[in-house]
Amino acid sequence: MAAIDLAVIGGTGVYRLANLQYAEAVEGDTPFGKPSGPVRVGRLRGRRVAFLARHGEGHSLPPHRVNYRANLWQLKQLGASRVLAINTVGGITERFGPRVLALPDQLIDYTWGRASSFWDGEGGEVLHVDFGDPYTPSLRAEVLAAADRAGVALVDGGCYGATQGPRLETKAEIARMRRDGCDLVGMTGMPEAGLARELGLDYACLAIVANWAAGAGPDPDEQITLQDVLANVEAASAGLGPLLSSLLAAD
Ligand code: HPA
Repeated sequence: MAAIDLAVIGGTGVYRLANLQYAEAVEGDTPFGKPSGPVRVGRLRGRRVAFLARHGEGHSLPPHRVNYRANLWQLKQLGASRVLAINTVGGITERFGPRVLALPDQLIDYTWGRASSFWDGEGGEVLHVDFGDPYTPSLRAEVLAAADRAGVALVDGGCYGATQGPRLETKAEIARMRRDGCDLVGMTGMPEAGLARELGLDYACLAIVANWAAGAGPDPDEQITLQDVLANVEAASAGLGPLLSSLLAAD
């Protein structure tokens, strides 16, 4: 199997990769069950790129039902060694308002009850991977440089808080997350990042800020609507194509 130069996992509002040419849909199964949908493998800038829609192409899977293990296993099996995960998030602190693209460098996991390891002890083996820096520093550096070359504004750093969902958070929960040091809140960042580390994949999170998290914006009583979320993701996604082209052209 020829290597894949980059695997991209798309989040809410990102169900296709524009300009992915000659894409072939690879359906598959893994020892951990079925991935969210077909992996589309094609060419972008002449490089082999794989794309998988995390929630399924018709967005049918809520965050707590995504088979994160199957998704990452499948990408690795297809020959991927680095993964750029696109995650739609809410912004908590000032630098992370709606339509911002961000590349967080830390995370806090508030999720529960998800299959969060490939090593669940059944084979008699337990593994504790290093996770001090949850996002691969070399891949982050490459993405930052690519954004710079492409003239795409990207906020460097920030702490991603992964919540269980599918409901949005209360104002008190967001206030607590702010005290904890979170800048962004999303529902899909974990266990994905931890599983990628277990598989030895390079992994970085490109966060698209869709809304101010509950109570965090200038109008603390503003309601979060799906319409706003999708409109903001669409607007911010304009930077994705140039960023990916630049990333793939670089190496
Ligand atoms: N909270 C959690 N996940 C999200 C949000 C939010 O405000 N916006 C988009 N994904």
